[in-house]
Amino acid sequence: MTEFKAVRGMRDLLPAEAHHWRQIEQVTQDCLNRFGYLEIRLPLLEFTELFVQSAGLSTDLVQKEMYTFADRNAESLSLRPEGTASCIRAALERRLLANNQSARLWYGGPMFRYERPQKGRYRQFEQIGAEAIGFPGPDIDAELLALNWRTWQALGIADEVTLQLNTLGTAPVREAYREALVAYLRMHEDQLDETSVMRLEVNPLRILDSKVPQTLALLTEAPVLTDFLDAESSGHFNELQRLLEGLDVPFTVNPHIVRGLDYYTKTVFEWTSEKLGAQNAFCSGGRYDDLVGLLGGKSMPAVGFALGMDRLALLVQETQFQNQGLVDVYIVPLTDEFCLEALKLAHQLRCELPAACILCHAGGGKIKARMKQAHRSGAQVALLLGEQEVHTGGAMMKPLRTDTEQHFVALAQLATSVAAVIDTPGVVGEA
Ligand code: HAM
Repeated sequence: MTEFKAVRGMRDLLPAEAHHWRQIEQVTQDCLNRFGYLEIRLPLLEFTELFVQSAGLSTDLVQKEMYTFADRNAESLSLRPEGTASCIRAALERRLLANNQSARLWYGGPMFRYERPQKGRYRQFEQIGAEAIGFPGPDIDAELLALNWRTWQALGIADEVTLQLNTLGTAPVREAYREALVAYLRMHEDQLDETSVMRLEVNPLRILDSKVPQTLALLTEAPVLTDFLDAESSGHFNELQRLLEGLDVPFTVNPHIVRGLDYYTKTVFEWTSEKLGAQNAFCSGGRYDDLVGLLGGKSMPAVGFALGMDRLALLVQETQFQNQGLVDVYIVPLTDEFCLEALKLAHQLRCELPAACILCHAGGGKIKARMKQAHRSGAQVALLLGEQEVHTGGAMMKPLRTDTEQHFVALAQLATSVAAVIDTPGVVGEA
């Protein structure tokens, strides 16, 4: 028999990990909502051309990393490798930007890239991303980074992260810089590593990203983009730094941050942490003032970020959240005869204690086996239902984590008695 395995680079998140993720997502999404970003849900599949046009034909993303196939109608589709292109496509198609309207949007979910899997790098991974469309100034860049910073503070990781900031300037700035960089590197081509030689042709700015020591040494003498900035680009960058300082968002300027997607202009950034090892960027983004126009809309400036949930979850310690067990109450019908009463009691308690997790025994078995399941569930209290309890209209309440004796509680008092014992109280109708 074939033993099925998950596809390479695609992982299952088991319940404990999924619970951890859910808590991080809640904190993150709460921060986004409080900064006025609205959720948008986007499809997993788009026409391949959307990513070619946006990320750029010469990028690794388009050249090597997309899951692309022809559908039954012979249309070339791709699993989305990132969310920005889809978000802009949707905003244009659904006219969210009509009449020069701006938009603050966020999205989340799986992205797909055919990369070499390693710790923190997968072929299916999750992002939560946000895009602020229609805002030209550095004020929104600063607000976006402040939103990131507040999120890291709320997640308890602010001490372990660094914001690396750079500017790529406007398109003409980059063009002039590109020429100067290529001219310099051509003079030293024999000392360049193989990948960098290839990039010299297609995407020379990505050479700045190289980790090869010999190339890095060569780059110390290379022209720097800062020297090529026009007044508009440097004004934007200086003002952003002033705002971040005023907002107490710490950052370092790193001229080597160039990003792997072609759509960026001016501000680019990566949030990194030394704790993550080689894949140390857990949230990245920047400004992309030309993309809306490129995708067929009226030209509109925009800026955004995406955080990688897989990497963020590695950074956030589970203990930072109240790591309570999931189950609060386990209801045990003593025989199958009382199954209906047990299910009805579970329903009643779920209505009266909306924050509590109530599990009702299923699967039959002897009383001993049922009680064993109750203990295993991690619940704090078991409610036992037998002939006598059903007849009298109540349940036997048995605390599972303390030595307190079990005792009978009438149906009308059950929610209040349970709420007094579990960590997740809140009887509906009580203060
Ligand atoms: P990106 O840098 O390609 O940017 O991805 C954003 C984040 O997704 C990375 O910082 C990383 O944490 C995570 N990530 C990327 N690839 C993987 C992978 N193979 N496995 C695990 N995590 C990964 C973007 O995607 C842009 N759309 C961000 C953006 C939004 N720029 C402007 N707006």
